[in-house]
Amino acid sequence: MFMFVKRTALIIDLDLIKQVLIKDFNYFQDRGAFNNPRDDPLTGHLFSLEGDEWRAMRHKLTPVFTSGKIKHMSGVVVEVGHRLFDAMDKAVTVSRVEDGDVEIKDLCARFTTDVIGSCAFGLECNSLQDPNAEFRAMGRKHFESRRHPQIVHSFIMTNAKLAKKLRVKMLPDDITDFFMSAVRNTVFVAGFETSSSTMSFCLYELALNQDIQQRVRQKIDSVLSSTEGGEITYDALAEMTYLEQVLAETLRKYSIVSHLVREANRDYKVPGTDIVIDKGSNILIPVYNIHHDPDIYSQPEKFDPSRFDPEAVKSRHPMAYLPFGDGPRNCIGLRFGKIQAKIGLVSLLRHFKFAA
Ligand code: HEM
Repeated sequence: MFMFVKRTALIIDLDLIKQVLIKDFNYFQDRGAFNNPRDDPLTGHLFSLEGDEWRAMRHKLTPVFTSGKIKHMSGVVVEVGHRLFDAMDKAVTVSRVEDGDVEIKDLCARFTTDVIGSCAFGLECNSLQDPNAEFRAMGRKHFESRRHPQIVHSFIMTNAKLAKKLRVKMLPDDITDFFMSAVRNTVFVAGFETSSSTMSFCLYELALNQDIQQRVRQKIDSVLSSTEGGEITYDALAEMTYLEQVLAETLRKYSIVSHLVREANRDYKVPGTDIVIDKGSNILIPVYNIHHDPDIYSQPEKFDPSRFDPEAVKSRHPMAYLPFGDGPRNCIGLRFGKIQAKIGLVSLLRHFKFAA
């Protein structure tokens, strides 16, 4: 098919997906995403870098995301979790007085904004205390405002190399200036929106499924009853296997990244066929649709964490579940994203009941 003017192969065969993401990764190392670090420096992040530049940066950043480092950072995240509890407590009190709702998505985004600020930059962003703090405002703006109208945007996305030659910029200058002044060459925006959306979807499903909410809270309470002062720790989180399943099911049903993209860097003959994917074509892997395929997940709209019982997971094709992608170009922040979502969820679920 064509995406705008870009030739694209939509791949739905799980074995071929494994071939593209893992076995024949050398053909499909890049995403063909727009990047122009010279003129538009924030677009030069790991997600959109290509070739040797990507390899070098991934190599440089990988040590930041090891289990040891994440364990070390989890104490900071737990601290931010306390502030999340305070902010929620305040919001609930206000909503009682004013008979209004609590906007949970915004609260979760303020939490993950503060987490990234504290962990990545050592900055106190204060967005939990002040919803309009600059860090949060800029984070929101990154997703909401565009430099160009939709048609120009589509042209850039599908003609990434030409757009770069033309020295095109994608992001508004004030956003770039703000974040560039805080950080260079660090992974950024991928770190908060993904996790906070996941937290919100999870709380939404738990509000709809009271039995699951009750069970996950019971498990949380039982694990925390044996930690010092009832404090959340990295090791305690590892024991919360049901929470892990609830999170996994959330990421299945609400795949934050709905599809994976790769670009063929040379002609690729699909094994066992005469079909050739031409150099420069895109590969599109429809994660959302795989996660909602009734042949793989019966009653896909049903929220059912038992789909992630260890036996059930073993019985499925490894490519049937791709919320973080797979292969050498998978999500580098997988462990960190899960830890911050879990700490945020535990900080809320142990003190509040959610209802729709
Ligand atoms: C629930 C949370 C998250 C989800 C669902 C998620 C999902 C994804 C997905 C699907 C990809 C593309 C993988 C592929 O193409 O195979 C990706 C890439 C990436 N993610 Fe995440 N992510 C999450 C959290 C994070 C966090 C917390 C960070 C950083 C702190 C992060 C940083 C990145 C980066 C830098 C890439 C590009 C990696 C590369 O190209 O080498 N993500 N993420």
